[in-house]
Amino acid sequence: MKTQVAIIGAGPSGLLLGQLLHKAGIDTLIVERQTPDYVLGRIRAGVLEQGTVALLREAGVAERMEREGLVHEGVELLMGGHRQRLDLKALTGGKTVMVYGQTEVTRDLMQARRECGAPIIYSASDVQPHAIDSPHPYLTFEKDGKQHRVDCDYIAGCDGFHGVARQSIPAGVLKTYERVYPFGWLGLLADTPPVNHELIYAQHERGFALCSQRSQTRSRYYLQVPLGEQVQDWPDTRFWDELKARLPEDLAERLVTGPALEKSIAPLRSLVVEPMQHGRLFLVGDAAHIVPPTGAKGLNLAASDVNYLYRILVKVYREGRTDLLAEYSPMALRRVWKGERFSWFMTHLLHDFGAHQDAWDSKMQEADRAYYLGSQAGLVNIAENYVGLPFETVQ
Ligand code: APR
Ligand code: PHB
Repeated sequence: MKTQVAIIGAGPSGLLLGQLLHKAGIDTLIVERQTPDYVLGRIRAGVLEQGTVALLREAGVAERMEREGLVHEGVELLMGGHRQRLDLKALTGGKTVMVYGQTEVTRDLMQARRECGAPIIYSASDVQPHAIDSPHPYLTFEKDGKQHRVDCDYIAGCDGFHGVARQSIPAGVLKTYERVYPFGWLGLLADTPPVNHELIYAQHERGFALCSQRSQTRSRYYLQVPLGEQVQDWPDTRFWDELKARLPEDLAERLVTGPALEKSIAPLRSLVVEPMQHGRLFLVGDAAHIVPPTGAKGLNLAASDVNYLYRILVKVYREGRTDLLAEYSPMALRRVWKGERFSWFMTHLLHDFGAHQDAWDSKMQEADRAYYLGSQAGLVNIAENYVGLPFETVQ
């Protein structure tokens, strides 16, 4: 097989990159380890920055999102016993976010790929990039017991944190920066109306809680839990009781509970590898960086990488601008690090670190909470990061 850009992974990064390149007349082939149903079964975050929304529009996959997505003009922060609405729109000169689940984004992208007839191979095993530092890279994989080879110009590693792309870069090339946190998030999805029309990020001495949503009839809630906690130890009633205990009385009374459609625990981690390119292999999204979910940046940073790589590849193919290929990693990383900083900052601001932090750090955390809620500049700072910082122009 032959293509121009071979893409490993059919998560949001791979599918979005594939769709944008297809629209620009560049051939892609996507190779995915799992089945489509498996990919759609993963429940992930659901807050899209304006830049991500614009990119989905540019890719021609925004129609259902425009219809069913919820435009949010604000979020609420509960810290130190105070409740503060962040008027995102007013604080950022008119910007908002779109609440629309990653699962739905993925579903729309899969449908677009099917409709345009561009190739995508699911259930491919043993995907391997080869000759990435030569002018003729290729992928090999196995499907239905047969070996296949895809010759290409470039390889996009969109295969997530556990993917093969990052691991195929020779040892010693990548530098890894990492922070692990001493807790995880227990998430619950339920067909109940959200407790509030906007998201609520709640700091509490029992631990952080987040009230999110997927629609006016589907809620997503999270609780900070210690590492090592098991989902089976959290029957629905225990989850709801704990959530109520972390919310102010009026919200706890208003909370509508119901059976969990899904419940899972995710550890919190910050990780970045540098550079995001080696030869003709480019790392995109979770393959290169992970953020804790507190800032809702995971999917948005993946879209940010896609934005840069897509625009660079279009100039490479249309204008012969191969000089731009070396710009991808530094450009993507400048924005990634700002997203990492914000996610790390929000995680520190809102979580209970218990014995994992000393008395000084606790005082700093208290002072941060008081400062950010009490200052217009502090609120603008959080708001402009939450709605998403601007992209640089590829020129
Ligand atoms: N070969 C082929 N495909 C693979 C391989 C492999 N060796 N390893 C992983 N994959 C596939 C996975 O099955 C998955 O479908 O790559 C895809 C990666 O998708 P994601 O993990 O969703 O990563 P990405 O597309 O970068 O999306 C980032 O996902 O984790 C969230 O918070 C993150 O929202 C952000 C988004
Ligand atoms: C979610 O809805 O799943 C969600 C929303 C905001 C976050 C994290 C997760 O910061």
